[in-house]
Amino acid sequence: QTIIKTGKRQFYKNLLKSSHVSCKCFNARKSSDVSRKFISFDEVVAQRRTEARQSIVVQVNSEASFNELYGYCSKYATIKGIYHYKNSSQEHFMLIEFDSEDNMKEVLRSCSAHHKDLDVMALKSPFLWFRAAIGRKETFSPPTATLLSLNSSSLVDEDVMLQDMVKCSTVSEQMQLLYDRTFLNDFGTRLRYIVARQLECVLQSLYANIAVRPFGSSVNGFGRMGCDLDLVLTNVVTEDMLDASRRLVYQDKKCEGGRSPWQRHMESVGELLELRVPGATRLQRILHARVPILKFSHEYTDLECDLCYNNMSGVYMSELLWQFGALDPRVRPLTFAVRRWAKTVGLTNPHPGRWITNFSLTLMVLFFLQQKSAEGCVLPPLKDLVKRAGKEDVRITDESLNCTFLRDLNKLPVECYSQKKASLESLLLQFFEFYSQFEFQDKAISINEGTAVRKPNGLPLYIVNPLEQALNVSRNVSFEECERLKLEVRNAAWQLEGFEGQKEDDWGLISLIEKKSTRGLKKLLRVGNSHRLISVKDLFDDTEEVMSENNLRSKLQ
Ligand code: CTP
Ligand code: MG
Repeated sequence: QTIIKTGKRQFYKNLLKSSHVSCKCFNARKSSDVSRKFISFDEVVAQRRTEARQSIVVQVNSEASFNELYGYCSKYATIKGIYHYKNSSQEHFMLIEFDSEDNMKEVLRSCSAHHKDLDVMALKSPFLWFRAAIGRKETFSPPTATLLSLNSSSLVDEDVMLQDMVKCSTVSEQMQLLYDRTFLNDFGTRLRYIVARQLECVLQSLYANIAVRPFGSSVNGFGRMGCDLDLVLTNVVTEDMLDASRRLVYQDKKCEGGRSPWQRHMESVGELLELRVPGATRLQRILHARVPILKFSHEYTDLECDLCYNNMSGVYMSELLWQFGALDPRVRPLTFAVRRWAKTVGLTNPHPGRWITNFSLTLMVLFFLQQKSAEGCVLPPLKDLVKRAGKEDVRITDESLNCTFLRDLNKLPVECYSQKKASLESLLLQFFEFYSQFEFQDKAISINEGTAVRKPNGLPLYIVNPLEQALNVSRNVSFEECERLKLEVRNAAWQLEGFEGQKEDDWGLISLIEKKSTRGLKKLLRVGNSHRLISVKDLFDDTEEVMSENNLRSKLQ
């Protein structure tokens, strides 16, 4: 279903291996790049931002509008790719990528604004709608490109995935399947960058040199379909701005009043979100927190967004996690399995509170993979990446946080990583065993050192913040939750070991990621009822409803 195919296959293959982004979205690169094993995070981000700058999202009546829209836009510009998707309100959209930004601007120049309602101020953004043709429809010959149809969230059908897992022959295969079906794909990533671009367009009309970048799970390689969109607003200082030879200088506007200027800017960004950003809705202002945040939903893309200001350490943290994930192909599938298991047993929770977060769990997985065994280790400690950093890697945030570490992984000697040749299955079991024996009482987890360090205080769980080592990223975790974590890792190890050789319908990973309250029922459905069109997920997943098997049998009859 690739829409437009570009050349340099080998480069894309490498890219796909290292970054898990779809090859069809990348422009052709220099042939010298082909020999590089790793592409850098900055290169991926730059490419994604370019893609977003040359893309629009058009609301249409239905999939049937494809030919007409394609024909209409082709009059103005060359189309590189086109996707159709439906959001949760069943509205239809086409994401169109053009050949270049100039190309897209030609299309935008041809756009009109809807002038029926005089209270609505016209605005320009990458989100548009396709008006029905007036009078006789123009005829367009069908384009040669095919259309890829998706849901905005592209959430997988859980029942189908679990059924496919039953058929796998190893736990490793099940883990790979979970990862392949649920990781944030190319389309999901595109939508996220377009939303960032939309905000950037609105804010750039008011603020010089502003950038809006996605960070967190949307870009760190550990995101799953449907994850939230963390965005950061940064003030980009360019070389031109620092050039002392330029004698005419813009007057600044100093913020009057006692409050922090950024709190006030964020307030005004909040107003703009409400007034000037089509699709942004249900805005919540959380401006008195340590990191002030604007939360909103984006209804055209079904994304839950968190926008903060100047949190560059969050961006560098995403880069760091992305790098660790790129170093070895087992890192991301293992993390997905652990995070999914933690969700199932209720260790993580969508609401903030005393629970461990996905971010902390990811650090726990990375730390485990840094442990040396007879076979070596999978990942190096962060201090190795810091030691090997060059001048080009220096990054100091406005808050003086030193986020310097090696960015070009091609410079890392291969003996520093990927040594342990264990299968995913064996790593998962070892992960649970490792934390079953971890001395949480006295020790802290530090991916900087790659070994356990002394806990500086009595907090139940201590995970050193890799970029701000005086902080504990799991300081919110309560004593009870930490105890539950210890108990659940033991249970998981026991469960996984117990399944060795046996192949029940809930064998291997399924037993760890399927809720106990619905397992019996789902198992029953899988056995002999797989042809029935019943979505057990819809019936039970979000409820704690427990039905007896007899009850279910009678429902199925
Ligand atoms: N972050 C950080 N320090 C913390 C918490 C978060 O630097 N103590 C940064 C990380 O880069 C993290 C990002 O903020 O990835 C977003 O945090 P959050 O949304 O909580 O986690 P995600 O990694 O995005 O995972 P999820 O899919 O659960 O949203
Ligand atoms: Mg997030």
